[in-house]
Amino acid sequence: MSTPSLLILPGDGIGPEVMTEVRKIIDWFGAKRDLAFDVTEDLVGGAAYDAHGAPLSDETMEKAQQADAVLLGAVGGPKYDVLDFSLKPERGLLRLRKEMDLYANLRPAQCFDALADFSSLKRDVVAGLDIMIVRELTSGSYFGEPRGIFTEGNERVGINTQRYTESEIARVARSAFELAKRRGNKVCSMEKANVMESGVLWREVVQKVHDEEYPDVELSHMYADAGGMQLCRWPKQFDVIVTDNLFGDLLSDVAAMLTGSLGMLPSASLGAPMANGRPKALYEPVHGSAPDIAGQGKANPIACILSFAMALRYSFDEGAEADRLEKAVESVLADGKRTADLMQAEGGTPVSTSEMGDAIVAALDASL
Ligand code: NAI
Ligand code: MG
Repeated sequence: MSTPSLLILPGDGIGPEVMTEVRKIIDWFGAKRDLAFDVTEDLVGGAAYDAHGAPLSDETMEKAQQADAVLLGAVGGPKYDVLDFSLKPERGLLRLRKEMDLYANLRPAQCFDALADFSSLKRDVVAGLDIMIVRELTSGSYFGEPRGIFTEGNERVGINTQRYTESEIARVARSAFELAKRRGNKVCSMEKANVMESGVLWREVVQKVHDEEYPDVELSHMYADAGGMQLCRWPKQFDVIVTDNLFGDLLSDVAAMLTGSLGMLPSASLGAPMANGRPKALYEPVHGSAPDIAGQGKANPIACILSFAMALRYSFDEGAEADRLEKAVESVLADGKRTADLMQAEGGTPVSTSEMGDAIVAALDASL
């Protein structure tokens, strides 16, 4: 098989800083694990606007469509606040998501033992947690028509519509079942079938996809409000959770905070399988460009590094190497290395962005 291609879009602010550390990791896998990637780097966001007058050029868009996976840093910054809405850095990211039709947004909640005391929940509840929320990203309440603010008689009415077609539900369900097969083989689907017709259809379609295509994956259904409670009470009962756009927005933020810092959170957005069987995919940290710390060597590169680990697992079928990378991160944290965002009030000396990257590379070396 030909060398898999990876398009890297560092973006703005701390984006290029954390991506520099990811490049060290990618180089390590090439040199030490014979895992080579055909890496191309390009511009997105404010950096692209500065160069071409648009937050994503057509040429870069085309490269993203062709790549086996895209890895993005972050976009945006105060310098671009004055720009017209259509030229803002964030539009570059939205264009990528829309034109690649990335309908499944993956947000893992993973708790590294060394950071378990960072959680607002008890150590027992979160230590060793490893769950994945799959949020439908391109339909539902944020897109359904009719929408708007209308006048009815002598007052106004605000309307949004929760709308899902069978095929939209089926494709995100397939993404969730495929992920479950590479993880704990368990999917919990969440909706409000008790009060919403779209939820009734959701439950029916997820069940049908399961019965016909993934009978060996364990499937359960839960009302989304109960799901929120269970996430806080005993999150380790879950493996993969699949839910719609609106509930997924809330539940993925709740799940993220079970484990602590923004500087630790990776994500992925997946679309339809390409000709080679790999899904279209964009991997990125959850955080933004952090203009308050940009250029100071303070950014935590782990969120972006773990996003690359997700790429290894979900785009390149290198689950064992993804495990190796996650274990390297775990061991560096266990050694007490912390970037500033991971420091508790008691103090100590934080490591810089590049020191954290180097420590993870050293831990990878030690894993051989
Ligand atoms: P942000 O995520 O950039 O920062 C929020 C806070 O978390 C800041 O105090 C920042 O210093 C800290 N932080 C974030 N990532 C960190 C890391 N890796 N290591 C250490 N500390 C970290 O969100 P904010 O401040 O609301 O937005 C800043 C800019 O980023 C805006 O222009 C916004 O539009 C853009 N943004 C871009 C996103 C993306 O590219 N996906 C997502 C969110 C915001
Ligand atoms: Mg949100």
